Amino acid sequence: MYTGLQHLHSGLAYLVLAALAIVFIYALIGSLSNRPFTEKDRKIALIAFILAHVQLLVGLILYFVSPVGFSLLKGGGAMSDSAARLTALEHPLINIVAIVVITIGYSRAKKLADSRAKFRSIYMLYAIGLLLILSRIPWGSWIG
Ligand code: HEM
Repeated sequence: MYTGLQHLHSGLAYLVLAALAIVFIYALIGSLSNRPFTEKDRKIALIAFILAHVQLLVGLILYFVSPVGFSLLKGGGAMSDSAARLTALEHPLINIVAIVVITIGYSRAKKLADSRAKFRSIYMLYAIGLLLILSRIPWGSWIG
């Protein structure tokens, strides 16, 4: 179960990062070209939103199964070791914040009336979410 979840989380990470980067560029171009925001644009943003939420769910389960997740925090000592602090605290916490930011970007875009404002809500908040995620990836242990 642990290895399966680890591989799923690791593989999904590629999809989430690629989807966020693509939607960011797509929405930025949409905003710069001043074209109307269509249902297709909403659906493209929704794909990255869903992938991020699936990753959140898998990450939460993994957190309680992995030997470098909650069990490290529970056992103490994780705060003094930077690798342990990353997987047991910083990566989960910052990624949850990132997914909240992405959720706000998507939901705001749905409520706003102006096309340019919709594109802006998506490209700005998805970019912040992406940067937060990138800042706390355990690059050293990413098995790919
Ligand atoms: C979009 C959000 C996320 C991305 C892109 C992401 C990506 C990654 C990557 C690339 C790894 C390294 C995998 C490996 O060693 O092969 C990892 C590990 C891990 N992630 Fe995430 N993650 C995300 C969200 C979360 C969340 C929200 C949690 C928990 C609440 C979480 C918990 C963990 C844990 C515990 C590990 C260490 C797993 C292990 O090696 O045993 N992740 N994550």
